[in-house]
Amino acid sequence: MSKPIKSVPVRPSEITPKEVYLSRRDFIKAAGAIAGSAALAACAPGVAEESSSAPAQSLPALHDELGSPANAYEEIASYNNYYEFSANKEAVAPLSKGFTTAPWAVEVTGMVANPKTFGVEDLLAMFPQEERIYRLRCVEAWSMVIPWNGFPLASLLKVVEPTLDAKYVRFETIYRPEEMRGQGSAFYPWPYQEGLRLDEAMNDLTLLATGIYGETILPQNGAPIRLVVPWKYGFKSIKSIVKIELTDKQPETLWKTVAPNEYGFYANVNPNVDHPRWSQASERRIGELARRETLMFNGYGGQVADLYTGMDLSLQY
Ligand code: MTE
Repeated sequence: MSKPIKSVPVRPSEITPKEVYLSRRDFIKAAGAIAGSAALAACAPGVAEESSSAPAQSLPALHDELGSPANAYEEIASYNNYYEFSANKEAVAPLSKGFTTAPWAVEVTGMVANPKTFGVEDLLAMFPQEERIYRLRCVEAWSMVIPWNGFPLASLLKVVEPTLDAKYVRFETIYRPEEMRGQGSAFYPWPYQEGLRLDEAMNDLTLLATGIYGETILPQNGAPIRLVVPWKYGFKSIKSIVKIELTDKQPETLWKTVAPNEYGFYANVNPNVDHPRWSQASERRIGELARRETLMFNGYGGQVADLYTGMDLSLQY
């Protein structure tokens, strides 16, 4: 197996303050979208001057290991899939504002030698927070580059010690209909649940995220703790986790239960297997005009392809 990706070697905070790189990113987008310096200056006060001396391509930018710039914090925090709040991506942020994220406990249970319930603050104290800049590819064919802060799920699993019988990990989102109005819909089998094979869960890329851009993660992005599995479609990356259960049975998952012909358990990003209702060959990176080609395993094949040796990858749905 080749070397796992941790991050670009230089932390963004070492290059330039957050406010400056966020507004630079905004400026680059504005420059592409708006013609005329007067309009630009009006839209992006404070950065227009800088633009005259620094061409966009030479600006220091936070980027993934393929050289793509990270999405702006505002994009990541305002375009969300979180059906517990709304099926409308722009409505999730306002509707989740004020969602109670503390106190928060995560129960780790099932086929483990040391079952335990951890407060999120315990997890933050136990495991050093790393920065991981990952592509997120939604099954709906849009994508973003997100600078997460968090720790490998494997670190937590090693503490609870899965037994030899454990083959899968099941995850559950909080059920709190009084704060999550989408959970009033009887169409979905709440709470949201997801699952991974144990070896997928132990892969170094698999992250429990607690932050974005060095800031505490916001409710719309899955506060206070969510999963990130960058080589799989985004629906595997379950938000606001309260339960992690080791089991010997392949877990049920919300989307597979609702539409088994459209959403599979594995859900590895694969440009060669179309969704029954749309192509997966290309994607729309939020903030860009031209479409990008979708990469096998979302570009993480070097780290994960050997997990699937011998599997027919055309049969994943
Ligand atoms: N987790 C829960 N509990 N509920 C959801 O609706 N949506 C998933 C995933 N995790 C979802 C969820 C989908 S479809 C995607 S693409 C990602 O969250 C989106 O994460 P983001 O809003 O932080 O970009």
